[in-house]
Amino acid sequence: MLEIFPSLLAADFSRLGEQIDQVTAAGVNYLHFDVMDGHFVPNISFGLPVLESIRKCTRLPLDVHLMITDADTYAPRFIEAGADQVSVHQEACPHLDRTVRMIQSEGAKAGVVLNPATPLSTLEQVLPLLDYVLLMSVNPGFGGQSFIPYVLDKVRTLRQWRERLGLTFAIEIDGGISLDNVGRVAEAGVDWVVAGSSVFGTADPGRAAIALKEAGLEAAARKA
Ligand code: DX5
Ligand code: ZN
Repeated sequence: MLEIFPSLLAADFSRLGEQIDQVTAAGVNYLHFDVMDGHFVPNISFGLPVLESIRKCTRLPLDVHLMITDADTYAPRFIEAGADQVSVHQEACPHLDRTVRMIQSEGAKAGVVLNPATPLSTLEQVLPLLDYVLLMSVNPGFGGQSFIPYVLDKVRTLRQWRERLGLTFAIEIDGGISLDNVGRVAEAGVDWVVAGSSVFGTADPGRAAIALKEAGLEAAARKA
C-alpha cells in the first residue's frame, strides 16, 4: 500500500507541532525525520532533542533517516529518543550487517539507504535482513532538489529481486517527489514516498500529502 511520508526537514521549525497536526489530520500514517551531521552530507539539520519533543506530540511512527558518519554510536540514541524505524547509509557503514542487526536488537525497524550512484548489488547479502530499503532520488543533504530519473530503474529492479527472493522489505524513495512524478514513482513499484517541499512548501500540507497519495494510487492502479 502506497504511503506518503512527509519530511519534516521542509516544515516550519517554529511551529513543528502545528505542522505535524496538519498532516496527521489529513490521514498521513508516518513522519520522516532527516538527521544530517555536516560531515557525511554538507548540511546540518536537527537531532536528538528535536526528536524527543516530536515524540511527545505525535503517535505516528517516526522514520529516522541518518545521514551521518557515525550511525553505530547514534542509532541507539535515536531509538531511545523515539524513533520507530532507522535507516543508515550503505556508504557510511563499513559493518553494515552488524549495524542492521544492532538497530533491530534495539527495538526498531532497520533500513539501508543507497545514494543515487550506489548500485543495488551492494545490498545483495544483507537484503534478507532488512525491513526496508530507501533509494535516494537526489544526492542527500538538501530539500527541494530535482528528482534523478534513473533511480526509477533501481526501483523496478529491486522490486523484481524482492519477488524473486520471496522477501518482504518495503521500498522507500526520497528526494524531489512532487505531483509531477509521483505517478511514475508509484508505477515503478515504490511502497513509501518521502515528500518534503511538495508537502510543507504548500499552503495546505495535509491536502498536499493526500493529493500525492491519490495521484500515486491512481497511477499504480492504472498500471495493474
Ligand atoms: C534529502 C532528505 C529528504 C528531503 C526531501 O537529503 O533526505 O528527506 O527532506 O526533500 P524534498 O522532498 O524537498 O526533495
Ligand atoms: Zn530523508
